[in-house]
Amino acid sequence: MRMNTTAALAPTIELHDVVKRYASGTLALQGISFDVGAREFVSLLGPSGCGKSTVLRLVAGLDEVTGGRISSPALGSATTSDTAFVFQDPTLMPWASVFDNVWLPLRLAGQSKDDATAQVRQVLALVGLAEFETAFPAELSGGMRMRTSIARALVTKPHVLLMDEPFAALDEITRQRLNADLLAWWQSNALAVLFVTHSVFEAVFLSQRVLVMGARPGRIVAEVVVVEPMPRTAEFRTSQRYAQTCRDVTRALEVASAADGLSA
Ligand SMILES: Nc1ncnc2c1ncn2[C@@H]1O[C@H](COP(=O)(O)OP(=O)(O)O)[C@@H](O)[C@H]1O
Ligand SMILES: [Mg+2]
Repeated sequence: MRMNTTAALAPTIELHDVVKRYASGTLALQGISFDVGAREFVSLLGPSGCGKSTVLRLVAGLDEVTGGRISSPALGSATTSDTAFVFQDPTLMPWASVFDNVWLPLRLAGQSKDDATAQVRQVLALVGLAEFETAFPAELSGGMRMRTSIARALVTKPHVLLMDEPFAALDEITRQRLNADLLAWWQSNALAVLFVTHSVFEAVFLSQRVLVMGARPGRIVAEVVVVEPMPRTAEFRTSQRYAQTCRDVTRALEVASAADGLSA
């Protein structure tokens, strides 16, 4: 099964019949196939343990497939800075300022602070942290720490952004604000985003396509195309279209978990 219905441009990430078995014997993924187009926003949605993080790690080249094939910029000849990863935990250096945290990937690529300043300030302005470059992570709210983490991901101007439940630890209002901002950053940076979440509401609000996963072993059980122009507005969240799409996606999740023999 190969899934790609909305990608207008050539796929930037492609998975063909991917299998992942861990050394422990756990069959985490079986027969995973999908594409993400350049500049497309796709979510992977599924219950805890269905293999979402495994998919992201494989796409990022942090682990190897047991079977099948993946092509993604992180695995090809392109520089690794073409792909950025954002985790649920912002993983900031607590002893370093916001500026220095965001400078880090450029510093690792050999750029001095002076050389990097314009680029760091530009991305801090983008995520709304221009006033906070000298602050330390402990002085920031959870939302601002996540903004810093996203700024650090975007500072290298990647073409692919892999996000693993980045907003799961945030309160609902902060999460909704970051959802809306993420779509703006996605558009202004011409990114392909593969976004992992277990929230139906978040997946539907953000994505052009939602790939619904089932567990044991992890596989894609449904694809839901969200037919709503980008960028999404606050009005979309309260619309009938949104409610109906959330129901469709929830139904697909229920069918998948019933097939597992698990009650949700
Ligand atoms: N490093 C690992 N070694 C062994 N099993 C793992 C490892 N990482 C994940 N798993 C198992 O693989 C399955 C999928 O895990 P994961 O990809 O983390 O799911 P999700 O992100 O959807 O919660 C789970 O059964 C999990 O216990
Ligand atoms: Mg996970």
